[in-house]
Amino acid sequence: MNTNVKNELLKRLFEAEGQPVSGQEFADEYGLSRTAIWKYIKEFEEEGYEITSIRKRGYALITSPDRVNSANILNHLETSAYGRSVDYYESVESTQPIAHDAAQAGVPDGTLIVAEEQTAGRGRLYRPWSSTARKGIWMSLVIRPTLTPQQAPQMTLVAAVAIVRAIEEVTGIEATIKWPNDILINGKKMTGILTELQADPDRVKAIIIGIGMNVNQEEDDFPDELQSIATSLKIATGQHIDRAKLITSILGYLEQYTKMYEKHGFGPIKLLWEGYSNTAGKRIRAVMLNETIEGTALGISDEGLLELQLDDGSVRGIYSADIQI
Ligand code: BTN
Repeated sequence: MNTNVKNELLKRLFEAEGQPVSGQEFADEYGLSRTAIWKYIKEFEEEGYEITSIRKRGYALITSPDRVNSANILNHLETSAYGRSVDYYESVESTQPIAHDAAQAGVPDGTLIVAEEQTAGRGRLYRPWSSTARKGIWMSLVIRPTLTPQQAPQMTLVAAVAIVRAIEEVTGIEATIKWPNDILINGKKMTGILTELQADPDRVKAIIIGIGMNVNQEEDDFPDELQSIATSLKIATGQHIDRAKLITSILGYLEQYTKMYEKHGFGPIKLLWEGYSNTAGKRIRAVMLNETIEGTALGISDEGLLELQLDDGSVRGIYSADIQI
């Protein structure tokens, strides 16, 4: 089966917005038989697309399934690299190790690993990450920016800004960022970001950006212990959200901001980030592996560290911590 032709056919069906696409003309254009086109249509139907055949006019797409498969992602995609290659799974333990293996095998910049469900999703510090089937976005993006290994942790902040912009674009909701890797809505966690690195001492080989987003969950889709601290876009908006559309919007902003970071450094990202921060000026507690400190959050440094003013007036830059507000 030729995946490119199949994707192109689906793209035409999407673009026609419910109007018929001529099977004969498409077959002629690609040097295929009409039977080959009919087989693709049958495959789409098996994948959950509802397609009607209109005599003498062709095939019309009526509805597409609520899936984050490559066809639904490519349909909205406007990037040059990010998401151009998609590895889609119904159920995996975690997309993160799959992305690590893919990066090591040399997949191109912007390759996306995405799954409907994770059975052993993980967050920062190997904490478990709840990933209910078909309700959220569970994805790991392999990127190969021209950055030093020291610049790589800031990619978490680049990704956070891209995600907040995408949420705003698709749902109209203004989310906030809790340093370093949480996106909040109404004070509850809605997204987590896990940035991991493959590098030589002086050069980034690949950055794996793992993104877990709660999108269409209802309250009782979350395990009991998360119900008071987690939320989803559906809970916040009352609306079912098109996950594939949200993914393409994230990929668009992420590609744009990563290029900006490579070209102009962290300054412009820092400005964007500060506009969405929910910690600046607040009294917070930073819980680290060996100590817990309290103070007033000032903002982030040019390296992406959280700057905390302690009660004695001194300022500490924090690399990694759980922040309690
Ligand atoms: C955190 O907030 O601690 C980070 C959560 C990251 C979760 C995502 S879901 C896709 C990818 N696969 C995983 O197992 N984890 C990341």
